[in-house]
Amino acid sequence: MTRDLGVGLISVGWMGKLHSRAYQALPSVYPELGLRPRLVHAADTAADRVDYATGALGYARGSSDYRAVLADPEVEVVSICAPNVLHREIGVAAAEAGRHFWIEKPVGRDARETGEVAAAARAAGVVTSIGFNYRHAPAVEHVRELVAEGALGRITNVRAVFFSGYAAEPKGALSWRFKRELAGSGALGDLLSHVVDLVSYLVAPIVEVSALTSTVYAERPILPMGSATHFAVIEDGELGPVENDDYAATLVRFAPTAAGPGAVGTLEASRTIVGPQCGLGFELYGTDGSAAWNFEQLNELRLCLGRGGPHQGYTTVLANPHLGDYARFQPGPGIAMGYDDLKVIEAKKFLLAVAGAERGQATIDDAHAVAQVIAAAEASAAGGTWQAVPAVPGASFGREPAGHG
Ligand SMILES: NC(=O)c1ccc[n+]([C@@H]2O[C@H](COP(=O)([O-])OP(=O)(O)OC[C@H]3O[C@@H](n4cnc5c(N)ncnc54)[C@H](O)[C@@H]3O)[C@@H](O)[C@H]2O)c1
Repeated sequence: MTRDLGVGLISVGWMGKLHSRAYQALPSVYPELGLRPRLVHAADTAADRVDYATGALGYARGSSDYRAVLADPEVEVVSICAPNVLHREIGVAAAEAGRHFWIEKPVGRDARETGEVAAAARAAGVVTSIGFNYRHAPAVEHVRELVAEGALGRITNVRAVFFSGYAAEPKGALSWRFKRELAGSGALGDLLSHVVDLVSYLVAPIVEVSALTSTVYAERPILPMGSATHFAVIEDGELGPVENDDYAATLVRFAPTAAGPGAVGTLEASRTIVGPQCGLGFELYGTDGSAAWNFEQLNELRLCLGRGGPHQGYTTVLANPHLGDYARFQPGPGIAMGYDDLKVIEAKKFLLAVAGAERGQATIDDAHAVAQVIAAAEASAAGGTWQAVPAVPGASFGREPAGHG
């Protein structure tokens, strides 16, 4: 049996393209699911991006106003890939229009906005999915299984970072990401949100945070919305102020688990670092083993299982058909999967949930729980004190049945 799903897209930037390619790939990567996304209606305020959506991506219709997408009777699911400032407005509008939605992280500029989107989704009973794509890497899914089955013992401490170089260049463009009104926080919401989701998915929710932040470059050349990308470098542009953090460091405590007392750890994020480029990595240390992974080596997992024996120290495992959804993409070990593939897996989890089959995706409640950690980190950085993280009912990070979508 096949299930036709009319897709709407709001914002045709980097993520908008990627969501579209994921929908297009899904029927061939997971043919037995019978899910048939149909690209119906895309909106962007930049006319050339609407043209790209209808011309190159294959959407049947295009608009400059996102409300036309939500009002389109053929649209059943919506990808919301707009800048953070619009997440709350569009997320709430999508829920009120009864559309299931896949929204990009961090879902709003702060935890209040994420909570409002969550409340609207709950009230409308729509399925939600969040762009926490790093969860789906086969090596990450394997580590999650190892942790759950106790192969690493009790996780005692965690180091995780997202060291990105997208703003390492001092003349790197002042995109919406650097403006508080448009983005909220800087590296915290943009990058540390991924780290918080990943370690919460692997280990346990975070319950307490202490943080500091810093801004490395106070000014950057202005970039108009909807032009170029946040990787752009502008040589002689007019300068504007950077209004949020370039770097954030946190000490965290995790909730206790069935294995015993909660782990502790350090999480860091930088968007101005020189060296790492998309260095989202973690090291988990347990009483019986350790695991280390970095997105820049997506297809490599370093494992140490057991404290003794002849194989002490890390062993490198190459991605292979035993790990996660790897076999859907490549037939044998060591053939590299890529970033786009993670979005195909994310699309599958979303549309399976829409079809009522299972709920393996990151939900809006997970995003709200992540936003609460980011908010606590901001409060700690401002006040210099440890902050308790309020629990979010329904946030499960995929461990038990979610309360809703
Ligand atoms: N999951 C990930 O790994 C990941 C990676 C990058 C970005 N993101 C998130 O995705 C979102 C978008 O980021 P991006 O890098 O694709 O941004 P981008 O700057 O490439 O694209 C944003 C698009 O939004 C459009 N836009 C602006 N105002 C609009 C409006 N009122 N209605 C419709 N469209 C409008 C712009 O014209 C532009 O085309 C952000 O929330 C970001 O945090 C997630």
